[in-house]
Amino acid sequence: MNTQAKLTGADLRQSRQFIKVYQPPKIDGDFTGKHIISVEQFARQDLQILFDATASIRRRMKQNDRGLLQLGAGKVMATLFYEASTRTDMSFQAAMSHVGGQVITASNGVSFSSVYKGENLADTVRAVGCYADVIVLRHPEVGSSYEAAYYLDSLREQEVVRRPVIISGGDGVGEHPTQALLDTFTIYDLKGRIDGLDITLVGDLKNGRTVHSLAKLIARYEASGVKINLVAPDVLRMPQDVIDLMTAQGVQVYETDDLHDVLGTTDVIYWTRIQEERFATPEDYNAIKDRFIMTQPVLAQAKPDAILMHPLPRKHEMGTPEDHDALDADPRAVYFRQMENGMFVRMTLLAKVMGGLWV
Ligand code: NCD
Repeated sequence: MNTQAKLTGADLRQSRQFIKVYQPPKIDGDFTGKHIISVEQFARQDLQILFDATASIRRRMKQNDRGLLQLGAGKVMATLFYEASTRTDMSFQAAMSHVGGQVITASNGVSFSSVYKGENLADTVRAVGCYADVIVLRHPEVGSSYEAAYYLDSLREQEVVRRPVIISGGDGVGEHPTQALLDTFTIYDLKGRIDGLDITLVGDLKNGRTVHSLAKLIARYEASGVKINLVAPDVLRMPQDVIDLMTAQGVQVYETDDLHDVLGTTDVIYWTRIQEERFATPEDYNAIKDRFIMTQPVLAQAKPDAILMHPLPRKHEMGTPEDHDALDADPRAVYFRQMENGMFVRMTLLAKVMGGLWV
């Protein structure tokens, strides 16, 4: 099963190294037993399968279909969150409950597990892999989910009873694949297509893993006639490798630091938080933090049928709490629907990787 190159000596314990040696499996129409660690695993047909199944799951949830509880019956999901989370953590837990599975988590949080004693990720993940069918991992190191997948594959070789899969809940400034899946589903759901759309990503495009994954996933979708506008100050530009990947797939990329260049013509506005925790100094953060603020008077200048998305949490990049209320009242603000879609997409993904869903 594990055909990956083996790591040796000095390479070990640097999560980033695992991106070079661990090739995540392509979905290729079949999700069963596959780790979900990068959007690079998905092609357009895989996304279509996921979108159709998610729409069906959402319908069944509305109908209170008890049959959903069979999808994950008898399965266990463990959460390993080394970084703060509300939505990713709780929506995965809720998703597993809604498909009839069980959730386990370190009783006092991961920082009071053996991680406190200095256990490394490779060992913690294999310990948890002995108890669970799925592990959702959020970790501050880029490449940590690749490292976890690598060691879980090695665990499979030791003939443990389960064949656990890892699902990344975000690895540092790297990727956040399930967020990109729910974001792309939301765009597809509300606009009826991805092809031909004008999509604008705004804010911290350097450190924001959600925008890295979303940009790459739109490229993977091989949509025709898509234009992506990247709106960021110079110091927070989208990494060049992500831009290259998009242009190589025929996406038209336009970079600017002026939102008004694109606001009146764009179909999808994806707003993001300036990632304070990733800045070297408070001064660096303070110099940039007020650069882009989305409020209702700004949104008023967008197309009447545009949608405003945000992965949340939000801070002052959407103004004061009063500004939030005004913005939320605009029907173009769809971030709470986006958030609910996250649970439906995760239900689908869990059921599929656990082999319980063939719609
Ligand atoms: C994002 C994250 O953690 O990357 N949140 C999320 O998962 N919905 C975005 C952020 O923290 O700004």
